Formats: sequence, structure tokens, C-alpha cells
Amino acid sequence: MTGAKILAFGGYQPDKVVTNDDLAKLVDTNDEWIRSRVGIESRRVAADDETVTDMAEAAGAKALAASGLAPSAIDLVIVATCSPLVPMPSVSAIVAHRLGIVAPGAFDLNAACAGFCYAMDTASNAIAAGSARNVLVIGSEKMTSWVDWTDRSTCIIFADGAGAVVVGPTGGDEPTGIGPVVWGSAGDQGNKITVTGRTGSMRQDGQAVFRWATTAMAPVALEACRRAGVTPADITAFVPHQANLRIVEAIARRLGIPRERVADDIVHAGNTSSASIPLALSRMAEQGRLQPGTPALLLGFGAGLSYAAQVVTVP
Ligand code: COA
Repeated sequence: MTGAKILAFGGYQPDKVVTNDDLAKLVDTNDEWIRSRVGIESRRVAADDETVTDMAEAAGAKALAASGLAPSAIDLVIVATCSPLVPMPSVSAIVAHRLGIVAPGAFDLNAACAGFCYAMDTASNAIAAGSARNVLVIGSEKMTSWVDWTDRSTCIIFADGAGAVVVGPTGGDEPTGIGPVVWGSAGDQGNKITVTGRTGSMRQDGQAVFRWATTAMAPVALEACRRAGVTPADITAFVPHQANLRIVEAIARRLGIPRERVADDIVHAGNTSSASIPLALSRMAEQGRLQPGTPALLLGFGAGLSYAAQVVTVP
């Protein structure tokens, strides 16, 4: 069977920067509290008229250009998102059209903050099964469209952005570059992060989410390493969902992965749900923090509660 690998990345962030001091004008909070509890210094917020589709297009265009592939080489587009403006048409079909990708398979996938890792496995399987040659995988979110700007437990965390990767086939005897996924869910805790009603706002039980993420996610990450035939010591870049810097650092400590190998994009990007992993990957690539040909560990987790992890080879 053909293996799959990441060919290229692309990231997009809206222009508007919202600092902790800006939020302190809206709710009873302060810069020191936010930095120490969630590790965020500033985040990006989309313009009123900027949609998940617009951001997905921008990130997808960058990844496609970086891959060197023509739009005609892409035959599947998957957009992981839980914050599209409307449930139909799909973000993916519109983005494909805007990027000049003619008649690809196209669908959106919602596994909340774990969505990107679910989409990566789907892309890898489509290539292995021969149903796609190259796949454009995008995570795009306008989480602020679900934010209640008077709720200090959520408005300090969530933000907007998009990230994308192009996934293509491995050549010849090359080992697969997308390892087996470890995924799962805990629907009994589905009430820990919710949006109620079509026009509702996001609510979370912050402490319960924190406990779950810092206890249940390291074993998932370890199992993904085991299935890929590597150990945490081999991992040159750990790119977990950028939920909260304290959660990210706690999981990394449990895995024994040194801090310099851990993505910390949340500091200036906030929590962008399914966009956070590809956005963090693109940033690490820009900063020269990725080592081509080596294993990186991706770990998505969030509402559902849902999670997914896999080891990928850095392009
Ligand atoms: N600014 C200042 N003070 C705040 C605050 C804020 N934004 N939010 C809560 N507080 C206060 C509380 O009122 C409380 O004060 P008190 O002790 O005087 O009553 C104190 O800080 C502790 O409140 P608590 O709710 O226990 O805070 P916490 O330490 O659990 O932090 C979160 C709250 C949301 C930051 C934290 O639970 C968290 O990060 N959870 C994970 C959330 C997450 O990652 N979600 C995304 C999943 S994809």
C-alpha cells in the first residue's frame, strides 16, 4: 500500500491583535493572571466580515504554493472546523473552488480541537486506499464567533486562525510519513465544553477540562509513539493542540520531551481549536525549529471530549 506524508505547510492569522490588557477592559481579569494561568500574551481575532472559509482559503493557498503542486494534483480537500458561518455549503467545497481545484472530493470534519488529527488520518487513509493522490487538509476556526465577551473563563482563551498541510504519497520504499492514529472520545464528559443552541455561546468547565487533558492525554501520545515505532526521546517536535500553555507543558513533562522541542504558538495565537496544530507547525517551520526527516508528534484534544494523536515525518 502507498504511504502518505506531509509535503508542505501554510498558516494564516487575522490582522487584529487582542492583548490581555484589551480583555481587561471587557471583563474582570488582568495580564498577569492570564499569562500565568493559560500562557497567552495576545491572540488574533478575525474581522467581522472575515469567515472560516476566507481564513481556510488563505492558509490552503500558502500550503499549496509551498508544495509546488498544481491545483489539479489535489483530489480531496478536508476542512476541520467547528465554527463555520453556516452548516452548508461545506467550507471545503468553496475553498477548493476558490483555489482552482476542480471537482475534488470535499467535506468538512468536526471533532472540535482534535479535528486536524482526525483529518490527517482520513487523508492518509485515502491516499493508502488509492481514493486520492494528494490531499489538502485545513484546520480553520473563528472561535470568537462562539465567545461571550463577558465570560472571563472562555474569552481569554479562544481565538481565530487557520493552518493547512498538503499530504501526498510516499515514493518507492519510503516508509509512511503519517503514523497510525490513536483516537477516541469520552462522550460522558460531553458537557464539559459546549455551545448551547444555534446562536449560543461557548461554555466550559475549565477545571474538569484541565484535569482530563493533563491526565488522560499523555498516555494517548505515548501509544501513538509506540504504534509508530518511536519513543518520546526520538520526537524532535511535539505539537499538541494549543489549548493552554500549562496543559501543553504538563503533557510534555509527562512524556519527558524537552521544552525547546514543544510548540508554544499559543503565546501569540491563543487557542484556535482545530487550526492550532497546523498553525503551530507552520510557525515552527518558519522559525527553523523543525528538522526535516525526523518524527514529530501531533496530539489534538478538546470538546466531545475527543482526542487523536499520530507521529508524522517532518517534510
Ligand atoms: N481572570 C482573573 N481571575 C479569574 C479569571 C480570569 N480570567 N478566571 C477565573 N478567575 C478567578 C476565579 O474567580 C477564582 O477566584 P477566587 O479563588 O477568588 O474564587 C480563581 O481565579 C480561580 O478560578 P478557577 O475557575 O478555579 O480558575 P482556574 O485556575 O481553573 O483557571 C481556566 C481557569 C479556564 C484558565 C483553567 O481552568 C483552564 O485553563 N482550563 C482548561 C481550559 C482549556 O484549555 N480549554 C480548552 C480546551 S480545548
